[in-house]
Amino acid sequence: MSRTAGRYKAVIFDLDGVITDTAHYHYLAWKRTADSVGAPFDEEFNEQLKGVDRMGSLALILARAPRSFSNEEKLALADAKNRHYQELIATMTPGDLLPGALDALEAVRAAGLKTGLASVSKNAFTVLDRLGIRDRFDTVVDAAQIANSKPHPEIFLTAAAQLGLAPVDCLGVEDAVAGVASIKDAGMVAVGVGKPEVLTQADRVIPSMLEFRLEDY
Ligand code: BG6
Ligand code: MG
Repeated sequence: MSRTAGRYKAVIFDLDGVITDTAHYHYLAWKRTADSVGAPFDEEFNEQLKGVDRMGSLALILARAPRSFSNEEKLALADAKNRHYQELIATMTPGDLLPGALDALEAVRAAGLKTGLASVSKNAFTVLDRLGIRDRFDTVVDAAQIANSKPHPEIFLTAAAQLGLAPVDCLGVEDAVAGVASIKDAGMVAVGVGKPEVLTQADRVIPSMLEFRLEDY
């Protein structure tokens, strides 16, 4: 492919579960929360939380708890979850990049395309810095810059706008059901990373970033 001949001008990546396995740390931290309030919690239910912001995820968990919670209690639970999550990510290093993730970022730039990151996490910049990859992105959109969490398309639309591109020129990469919905509602082609039976709305699903090849799109 020549440097400008491709169909796309940018690839916008999700962070948690695509670039690094923080999705597992979110799972562990929410599992402790759910256990503490007597709400059922397993990997299947956790799929609904992926890509959803902190208070939105907590609301989904508490909807299955045996009692209701005051706003004060909700804020305390969210804060405790975040402290646990931050303990888990504190020891991350560049060695925690998922296999294939860095190669994908390098391949995108080598083909003359821009790179974007779209994460609804308030911890996104911390994770990027621990991984040492902040400068690998031409733009980063995190929770602080948007009003609506995935599955709303705002975050991918914001990333495209910050890159100076139309959504149709961007490819989105996501591991979450809500994230794939966000990409599709933004009018982009969606690459799902995970299982086809889970990411049913994706245009193509790959099992891991090792299988990400620009020429496939
Ligand atoms: C998303 C994760 O990237 O960020 C969700 O997929 C998480 O699981 C959300 O809840 C918010 O993260 P944080 O770090 O702001 O609590
Ligand atoms: Mg994700």
